[in-house]
Amino acid sequence: GLDVGKVYDKQEVFTYDPGFTSTCSTKSAITYIDGDNGILLYRGYPVSELAEHCTFIEVAYLILNGELPNAEQLAKFDSSIRKHTMINEGLKSFFNGFHYDAHPMAMLTGIVGSMSAFYHDTTNNKDPRHREIFAHRMIAKIPTIAAAAYKKYYGQPFMYPQNHMDYSSNLLHMMFAVPAEPYKIDPVIAKALDVLFILHADHEQNASTSTVRMAGSTGTNPYAAVASGIAALWGPAHGGANEAVLHMLESIGTKDNVASFMAKVKDKNSGVRLMGFGHRVYKNFDPRATIIREQCHKVLKHLGKENDPQLELAMELERIALSDDYFKDRKLYPNVDFYSGIIYKAIGIPVNMFTPMFAVARTVGWVAHWAEMVSDPTMRIARPRQVYTGAPDRKVQPIASR
Ligand code: ACO
Repeated sequence: GLDVGKVYDKQEVFTYDPGFTSTCSTKSAITYIDGDNGILLYRGYPVSELAEHCTFIEVAYLILNGELPNAEQLAKFDSSIRKHTMINEGLKSFFNGFHYDAHPMAMLTGIVGSMSAFYHDTTNNKDPRHREIFAHRMIAKIPTIAAAAYKKYYGQPFMYPQNHMDYSSNLLHMMFAVPAEPYKIDPVIAKALDVLFILHADHEQNASTSTVRMAGSTGTNPYAAVASGIAALWGPAHGGANEAVLHMLESIGTKDNVASFMAKVKDKNSGVRLMGFGHRVYKNFDPRATIIREQCHKVLKHLGKENDPQLELAMELERIALSDDYFKDRKLYPNVDFYSGIIYKAIGIPVNMFTPMFAVARTVGWVAHWAEMVSDPTMRIARPRQVYTGAPDRKVQPIASR
């Protein structure tokens, strides 16, 4: 209904783009994705190079600051993260309020949200020092909170962080050690976890990051904004897919059932999807999936689990899907979550902790995007419009005549 030749004000013309498939919500200098060619760069560096040469903490510094750290910068950043790993004892007691079978993502959402009640200082978004302390606190404390959710689930006492340990080892310690029995860190497992965290650290304007940005654009407390991102990550179409993949493998059971399962996936009325397959942006391959696949084989071989039936089942599903026209026509390939759950399971992490592990890594992206947004002087509150499809203007009728 636009008039040819008329110059419209931007408030008068709207695009209708459900799912934001072709809407850029922001400019950003953090992460670049070329979905057609399977390229993912953090601050210009291919994720494969970062996974090969850097630690998660180095990558976190890069994502936050735009450059890889030199030795001195890394030592300072690493020491600040280690210094902030403890959570307030008051915050710790919040866990007691959760039901014994609460999902760890529910606990994570609640506990991170409640951090906004402990740290009022970071609501001054315009001060770079406040933004930095928020980033360091968030990155340092999220593994402690995730591990506490794990311990709550098992009814075991919380383990304090051991700050002589590196980031991933410390998380493994807080999850698997018990007071009478320290957990011996296996460097192959700690390295695999570190690589998984690098691969999950950021992914431009995905649903959870966009949620953090949207909440943050109102000027809310940043811990509250991150809590909203954790809630968005939980869903099976996003970070919850790693948990959904394992449930799917369990429900298929054995390779004999793959054909009938695939028939269901291709039947549009069944509502069944091949979890861990497909991506809004990657239409060729997900570069993270290639690296995770390799790590998966490495870890399972190291643990003597290379004949793990679920890995074999996953490989069979992948083999069939990649040669099937249904998947080829729709450009559906394994995504980052197809193999991550198998690694997590092999190292003893329960299925409902898979998405919290993703949240630990993605926290880096969330805080970096929040900081980028609030330091941009042109930032405005995010406020999409809609196409109204409801009733026209009408009068309220007296209750007796409705
Ligand atoms: N299994 C079967 N069919 C699928 C799958 C799948 N996993 N994914 C997409 N399709 C089909 C759709 O039915 C649709 O078919 P149609 O064109 O005949 O109607 C077509 O492929 C396009 O699918 P959309 O849902 O429109 O794609 P969209 O970009 O909106 O969704 C998503 C992307 C959510 C990732 C989707 O592929 C999916 O549900 N995958 C499974 C869940 C998953 O693994 N999520 C993790 C994503 S990665 C991450 O968040 C870390």
